[in-house]
Amino acid sequence: MIKLKIDGKVVEAEQGLTILDAANQAGIDIPTLCYHESLTPGGSCRVCAVEIRTNRKWDLTTACTYPVEPGLEVRTNSEKVMEARRLAVELLLAQRPHSDRIRELARKLGIEEPTFILKQRECILCELCVRACREIVGTEAITFIAQGKGRDIDEPSVEHSVVKCIGCDSCAYACPTEAITVEDIGDTRILNTPSGKLEFRLKKCKTCGKYWTTEKQIEHIAKISGTSVEEYDVCPDCRD
Ligand code: SF4
Ligand code: FES
Repeated sequence: MIKLKIDGKVVEAEQGLTILDAANQAGIDIPTLCYHESLTPGGSCRVCAVEIRTNRKWDLTTACTYPVEPGLEVRTNSEKVMEARRLAVELLLAQRPHSDRIRELARKLGIEEPTFILKQRECILCELCVRACREIVGTEAITFIAQGKGRDIDEPSVEHSVVKCIGCDSCAYACPTEAITVEDIGDTRILNTPSGKLEFRLKKCKTCGKYWTTEKQIEHIAKISGTSVEEYDVCPDCRD
C-alpha cells in the first residue's frame, strides 16, 4: 500500500490507483466530467483539477490521470484548485450552456453564467464515446479527428464510422452532454451523432414481437462469441 496525504489527511491506496481513486476511497469528493470508472481516463476536461506538491512548489494536475506515489501531497480544495475548476467548467458551459451535467457542475462551483463567449457546440470532445466504443464494445467505430496541417476541418470532432458502428448506443449512454442521442422508431434505430445521423435495422423478437436491438449488434455479438445469429431470434426477456 502507498501512503499519501490528501488535504492533510494520510490516505492509503494501492499502487496503480490514481489520486481520484484514492480520494474517492477516503470519501473526499473531486468532481469529474470526462471520467468513467470502467474506462481508461482521458484527462481532457480538467474538471478534476487538484494541486500536488513537487519539490517546494504546488502544481496543478488532473486527479483522474495522476497515479498515487509514496509521500505525495495533494490539495483538493485550495483557492488555486477552485479557480482552475471554475475556469474549466466556465469554458465548457460557454460551449454547451444547456447541458444538465455541466450546469450542475457550474452550480456547485458558484458559476451562474459563463463570462466567455464561445461558439456553441454539442460535443465537448471529452472522448468518452471513443473510449466506450473501443474498450467496452470493441468496435472502434468512433474516431477523434484532430485539426492539423492538410486536414480539411474547421475544428476537432468525433466521427462515427458508418461501416464499423453497430448502433449499440453505448456512446449515447456514455456521452455526458447528450451530443449523441438514440431513438427507436418502428423497425429502425436512429443514432444522432456529431458527425451525422446513422440508421440501423432493428431485430424483432420471434416470440413477443418486440424490436430489441440492432441486427448489426447481433452480428457483432455472434461473431465475437462464436455463436450463430439465429441464437438471438428471441429477446432476453422471452429467453428467461
Ligand atoms: S460526443 Fe459526447 S461523449 Fe463523444 S466526445 Fe463529444 S461530448 Fe464526449
Ligand atoms: S475528469 Fe479528470 S480530466 Fe476530466
